[in-house]
Order: sequence, then structure tokens, then C-alpha cells
Amino acid sequence: MTLSNLGKPTAETCILVTGGAGYIGSHTCVELLNGGYKVVVLDDLSNSSAVCLERVRKITACEPEQLIFFEGSILDEALLNHIFTQHTIDAIIHFAGYKAVGESTEKPLEYYWNNFAGTLVLCKVAREHQVNNLVFSSSATVYGDPETIPLSEDCPKGTPTNPYGHTKSMIEQVLFDLHASDPHGCIVLLRYFNPIGAHVSGLIGEDPKGIPNNLVPYVAQVAVGKREHVGVFGDDYPTTDGTGVRDYIHVVDLARGHVKALEWMANTDKACVEVFNLGTGTGSSVLEVIKAYEQACGKPIPYRVQPRRAGDIAVSYASCEKALRVLGWEASFDLVRMCEDSWRWQSNNPDGYR
Ligand code: WQD
Repeated sequence: MTLSNLGKPTAETCILVTGGAGYIGSHTCVELLNGGYKVVVLDDLSNSSAVCLERVRKITACEPEQLIFFEGSILDEALLNHIFTQHTIDAIIHFAGYKAVGESTEKPLEYYWNNFAGTLVLCKVAREHQVNNLVFSSSATVYGDPETIPLSEDCPKGTPTNPYGHTKSMIEQVLFDLHASDPHGCIVLLRYFNPIGAHVSGLIGEDPKGIPNNLVPYVAQVAVGKREHVGVFGDDYPTTDGTGVRDYIHVVDLARGHVKALEWMANTDKACVEVFNLGTGTGSSVLEVIKAYEQACGKPIPYRVQPRRAGDIAVSYASCEKALRVLGWEASFDLVRMCEDSWRWQSNNPDGYR
């Protein structure tokens, strides 16, 4: 499979999206379909819903054959072989994986098995079918507790504070090693900062199972009346207001970064592995997020300060210079717009896809 096969997308340029029914995966499917690609989704629906893909069809008004869905796991080698035999895959965007930080510390074996071993199976089958172009959903968590801020791609990788983060870092290493042993095609590692928000239609969005681990989905559930108040995990960090600072990025900006990565791969005439931070370059504190959400939903969001959460770092935000220089990508939505789009999804779907 040569890079040129990715060329200017035609209705036959086929992208396998593992985890494509998930939060970031489904938003990326929307951008791929809008960009004229054919999309094949593999998702085990362990943390997502097939309803989400029906919403993707509605948003994009795509032809049925442009979005193909297989329910199953990346651990299922026979199913992967079937998919790669049925469809000429030009590139893979690999999202599939468990992603709850806290859960990963309680169930490390499940995380290493599903995320890490699953990726090994995917890479084995892809190689057997000569598919060498892959975009990997990585995370800023691979930087650990950084010495320098903002974080650029050449900042050394740190020690993740949980098994989830370790799986992301280990998968990055596998992809580097696979490429070094057989430099064909193009591998892009996208290190996400903190994705939030939802498609402007309000039809797809973040639908966490149980009590949300992450800040914004929790704030959203307080705003819609499902939770009493937000617990602010610590207000004694060395930041402007003492609360944790993160680089929140609109999930649609993030999704568009994946399309830009495919376009770059198509125009790259050499085999490569490249890392890109996908963030906004702006840090926002927990209290600033709560304030922005209040502005977006027009309601007060009650909160109570609680002790710090184990494993949390004080400050993390990106230098996104490389993604702009190389991919021609930069985030375009600000924090209030992220909260407005999150609120539209949450208020229209108080119980998510259920
Ligand atoms: C953000 C800030 C908390 C919840 C994690 C993963 C990362 C990625 C994104 C998957 C912090 C504070 C949070 C709450 C709070 N996940 N907070 N009350 O920890 O930066 O990143 O999610 O890819 O890999 O590490 O995101 O949203 O959990 O926390 O005060 O109820 O909000 O302390 O400062 P985090 P988060």
C-alpha cells in the first residue's frame, strides 16, 4: 500500500476507524465522511452505542455504503482478517481502547489486554494485508508530570501515572519499533490534550458510563440536574486560582486534525513516523471551565472544593506549533463555544444515547 493511494480522497479511499462509535471516533467519522472518504468502523460497543453511528449518518447524509459498521473487538483476529479482505483499507485511524484512568488502576490486566494486546493484533493483520498507514489516538498523558510547559513534541516522555497512560506510551513504542524494522507507509501519533464539546448539531457527544471521571461531562450533568454539584479536586495548586490547569480542545477541532494528518500522509513521499500535539496552546483552570459553562448554559453551576485527586498534575497545555507548521492544522473554537456545544448535546440528550 503506497502513500499515494491516500491521494485526494475519492469515495473509494477507505479508512478503517477502530473505536469509531466512540466520542472522538464518531466526530472523526463525521469529518471523514464530509471530506469524501469511505469509512469502515470496527467497535465492540463496550463504551459506545450503535445509535451514535445512526446519528453520524444523519449529520452527514452519507450513502449507506460510505459508512460500514462491524461490531467486534480489535482482539478478534479472524474478524480483522475478514474486514481487511472485504475492504481495501488505505489507512487506519486507531481509537479503540478503554480510557478511564481510575478504572485502569483497578483493572490493569483488562487495560493491557484490550488496549495493548489488541493493538498488536491489529498491527499483525494490517501488516499481513500490506496496510502501512496508521494514525494513532495517543494522549498528552504520555508526558507524565512535565518539567517544562507548554509541552512540545520533543519534550521527553515521562512516566504515566496509571495503566491507561502506560498503554498509550507502550503502543507508541511498538509503532516506532515496527516502523524502524520495516519502514513502509506513514505512522502519525496524535497526542490529544483534553477533548471536550460536541458536534454543533447536538446529535453526538460525550456519553460516559456511570459517574463521569472527567471534568466537563461531570459539569454538564450538574448543569442538566443529574448531579448536585461539581467536586473541585484541589484549590492549592500553583496556578492563578489554585485549581488544575488543562488544555481543553473542541472535539471537532480534534477530529479535523485527523483528516489533516491523512492529507499530510498522502503528500509525504517518504516512510515516516511523526508525533503531533493536538491542543489549543491555552490552559484553563477548573474554575474557569465552570465559569465558561455557566455562561454557556445560563445557569449557576454549584461546586465544592475537595482534596486533590491522586495522580493529578497541576498544569498541562500544549505547544501546537508543529501541527500548524507541518499539518497546516490549528484549533479554532474557544472554551465558551466548547461549553455551548457540550451543553446543546447534554440538554438534548440528558441520558446520552440510552
Ligand atoms: C481535568 C481537571 C482535575 C474532574 C484525563 C486523562 C487523559 C484524557 C483526558 C483520555 C483536573 C479536575 C476533574 C472532577 C475536577 N483521557 N477535575 N473535578 O485528568 O486532565 O486527563 O482525561 O484520553 O488521558 O488523563 O482530565 O477532565 O479528569 O481533569 O476538579 O470531577 O479537572 O483535577 O485538574 P485529565 P479530567
